Amino acid sequence: MNRRSLYENHLRRYHDAVNLAVMLPDMNLRAAAAADRPFLTLMLVEAVNWAPGREISVAAALANSSLARYVAGWPGPGEFGVVAVEASAPIGAAWLRLFDADHPGYGFVAPGIPELSLAVAAHRRRRGVGRAMLANLAVRARDGGIPAISLSVERANPAAALYRAEGYVTVGGDDAAEVMVRWLE
Ligand SMILES: CC(C)(COP(=O)(O)OP(=O)(O)OC[C@H]1O[C@@H](n2cnc3c(N)ncnc32)[C@H](O)[C@@H]1OP(=O)(O)O)[C@@H](O)C(=O)NCCC(=O)NCCS
Repeated sequence: MNRRSLYENHLRRYHDAVNLAVMLPDMNLRAAAAADRPFLTLMLVEAVNWAPGREISVAAALANSSLARYVAGWPGPGEFGVVAVEASAPIGAAWLRLFDADHPGYGFVAPGIPELSLAVAAHRRRRGVGRAMLANLAVRARDGGIPAISLSVERANPAAALYRAEGYVTVGGDDAAEVMVRWLE
């Protein structure tokens, strides 16, 4: 790692620590594991149901193969994630999934560029948790030599503003959703 990345990583970690102390003092981040899959599934459903009035159930999400594949068998090789915990209860998760060109995810851009899923429990939103998880994953991905992270976000979802603020740029999409990438090199 060169001096600039070391400095940026240090700065980011300091920045996160300060934000967390101010915004949600009892929140911690830990690496996600296979045992977190049920919680990741809940967060996947939260991500789908971001739109007011949309109420897709966990069962319906798991029955939809285009959605279920974001958590099925996670983590595969090269995949990792983060869980935000408050008083030992999980309150949010962000995780990466590697799809291939034959079976792309909604936010697929290229092989080797993992796709992000992210959600925070409704009662803990707007307290810096999502931003902290995004920063955590970006640092770990960069340290692991991953060139970029991609995602798909519906254009009307306010999460798009958070992604833009965290360095994601729009690289594609359609009328309903945009595909964004954060380059890490
Ligand atoms: C998107 C999400 C993960 C962000 O997590 P969070 O902990 O609430 O986010 P943070 O507090 O770290 O950052 C908030 C930023 O996100 C954006 N944002 C998120 N929700 C917003 C909302 N309802 N209205 C306006 N801005 C919003 C803003 O840019 C905001 O920055 P600000 O607070 O300085 O204005 C969370 O809101 C969530 O779970 N939403 C529902 C699921 C979802 O949409 N997932 C993403 C699918 S692509």
